[in-house]
Amino acid sequence: MTVPKTPTVAPATGKLGVLTVGLGAVSSTLMAGVELARRGMGEPIGSLTQMGTMRIGKRTDGRSPLIRDVVPLAGLDDIVFGAWDPFPDDAYTAAARAGVLDTSKHLEPVAEALRAVRPMSAAFDANYVKRLDGPNVKDKSSKRAMLDGIREDIGSFRDEHKCERIVMIWCGSTEIFLEPGAAHSDLEAFERAIDANDPTIAPSMLYAYAALQEGIPFCNGAPNLTVDVPALRQFAVEHSVPISGKDFKTGQTLLKTVLAPMFKARMLGVAGWYSTNILGNRDGEVLDDPESFKTKEESKLGVLEYILQPDLYPQLYGDMYHKVRINYYPPRGDNKEGWDNIDIVGWLGYPMQMKVDFLCRDSILAAPLALDLVLFSDLAQRAGLGGIQEWLSFYYKSPQVAPGLYPEHDLFIQQTKLKNTLRWMIGEDQITHLGIDYYLEE
Ligand SMILES: NC(=O)c1ccc[n+]([C@@H]2O[C@H](COP(=O)([O-])OP(=O)(O)OC[C@H]3O[C@@H](n4cnc5c(N)ncnc54)[C@H](O)[C@@H]3O)[C@@H](O)[C@H]2O)c1
Repeated sequence: MTVPKTPTVAPATGKLGVLTVGLGAVSSTLMAGVELARRGMGEPIGSLTQMGTMRIGKRTDGRSPLIRDVVPLAGLDDIVFGAWDPFPDDAYTAAARAGVLDTSKHLEPVAEALRAVRPMSAAFDANYVKRLDGPNVKDKSSKRAMLDGIREDIGSFRDEHKCERIVMIWCGSTEIFLEPGAAHSDLEAFERAIDANDPTIAPSMLYAYAALQEGIPFCNGAPNLTVDVPALRQFAVEHSVPISGKDFKTGQTLLKTVLAPMFKARMLGVAGWYSTNILGNRDGEVLDDPESFKTKEESKLGVLEYILQPDLYPQLYGDMYHKVRINYYPPRGDNKEGWDNIDIVGWLGYPMQMKVDFLCRDSILAAPLALDLVLFSDLAQRAGLGGIQEWLSFYYKSPQVAPGLYPEHDLFIQQTKLKNTLRWMIGEDQITHLGIDYYLEE
């Protein structure tokens, strides 16, 4: 198969605006981390764009440069942050409230920069996030006015900070479960639905549409439907704006997408997989509402079906019982505990068990993903790539893919796809791992 021509990537000159929808635990941890990293006061651990390398050429060439040394990414010094949130707390106050980072060690040194990020009034409607209500909101009586308000905010931010380019990333709460419907089928229907204040147009869709109209890439860190509807996907393709989603793959699902491919690679059966979580942050509180939990549950459940392919291996995975629970437990704050009990089956049907107890920190895992996503989405736009960026599946629990394609969930296939896309963008050969040439050339 021929590889499409390498794109021309415009250079990353000038300021890159990063607009986060939501100024909560993930976004304030992202902002503080970037401010610390660019002052050399903290390591951006977990970020492929900052710490990752990529092999170029043959194994015998010995070339594994840092990705950021060979791919023209925007630098951390070029980033300027802005945000929307229904709560008026600035990024310092939001970070202190979230309690993820140590105040004296990680917030005080960058307090001034964090205090300068004051949230713009949110396009928020408590009907979509039942457990929250804040005063810093736009009038929700007209969806059209909310959409126009977001676009005005983007314009003012762009002018104030003299941004050359902007990326928007949803780090807001998980909305209630919505399915694609008539209002999302094409742009005309979508436009009509906005004017009619149709309840199937969620606030997140207004942000995404505003971003696309402004030519701004949109990344979706939550499982909300948002930009994963035909009308917006089509708009993104037609206007060549990168989109990607959904739901940062940080903790339990990250583990699932490593362990499940291992079971399948070894042809080990899975009889059951019981996953439970306790967490006590605001996200946990929102997910305590059954309607928001349903959105998250769908996102977490899909993974195993796709990886294990029970239709191809009915005797191994046909009767698998898969359950996911999330329990709001305030004492733990952002420090989530994710337990997995996996009942596996080996030779001649003998049962075995595996238990994983992941004592993680939600936002510490999510912040580097958010950073990579904005930098790679900006790169995609400069490379002229519009529509769904499937190569960013690596970062998501339920990756957006073109209609008719099944999502690729295996973390290492996702990583190969990501790195090969980067190689393609910089005109280097794909690495297929065939490797037969090392033996034929003897
Ligand atoms: N490991 C992780 O942390 C992780 C992993 C996957 C997905 N996520 C998702 O990322 C999102 C952010 O997580 P978090 O821990 O920062 O949550 P959080 O509750 O601390 O922050 C979310 C913020 O979004 C704001 N918000 C809600 N609706 C909004 C709207 N319409 N406009 C603007 N702001 C709005 C809330 O007021 C809140 O401050 C959640 O949806 C979560 O499910 C997080």
